Amino acid sequence: MRDEQIGAALIGWYDTHARVLPWRVGPADRARGMRPDPYRVWLSEIMLQQTTVAAVRDYFHRFTARWPDVTALASAADAEVMAEWAGLGYYARARNLLKCARAVVADHGGRFPKTRDRLLTLPGIGPYTAAAIAAIAFDEAATVVDGNVERVTARLFAVETPLPGAKAELTALAARLTPRERPGDHAQAMMDLGATICTPRNPACGICPLREFCKAQAAGIATDLPRKTPK
Ligand code: ADE
Repeated sequence: MRDEQIGAALIGWYDTHARVLPWRVGPADRARGMRPDPYRVWLSEIMLQQTTVAAVRDYFHRFTARWPDVTALASAADAEVMAEWAGLGYYARARNLLKCARAVVADHGGRFPKTRDRLLTLPGIGPYTAAAIAAIAFDEAATVVDGNVERVTARLFAVETPLPGAKAELTALAARLTPRERPGDHAQAMMDLGATICTPRNPACGICPLREFCKAQAAGIATDLPRKTPK
């Protein structure tokens, strides 16, 4: 029951406080039944690996203006894509981006597969990215766990086990919170909460929509979590 209350409080917050991002569908359009474009969701998730939203924005706009769909990107020359990626870093991502676009066109008729398991077979798509695309673009109740979600979950449930050992425990707790309805918005709400309120230092617990449920906040240890095994 408590898990559902947490989910409801989180999605209510997201409906009024979600960051406006170019790969998202806003609340008004969503109410009209509009769904996010899988190509844009995939592209954003690849760009956001190891890179901040602020750094990604302009790149995302340039890529989608130049290559508006996966078929267009698949037929781009390697050198053009590498040049457009320049500055984003982690260049293996750009090489896999092209491989993946070409695989989607060659093996899947130009449409992204709709499940986490089949997305996992594509180049450059690991467990995190497959779950994110399945949830956000295709409404699969996949649990999406990145650093933000680990931090929010560790605090909510006052998990004292240090990272990285706590990963399985945090994933299981995050899975408990994943709703069947709007799992993609739930995942993005967890990310937004972690990025804007439940921040690593100085979390804004006073305005947190999950404050009443948060065990770390109640114990006065929010800033101390998640604990980390010293390197
Ligand atoms: N980081 C990774 N994926 C994201 C998304 N869909 N929204 C916000 N931040 C993210």
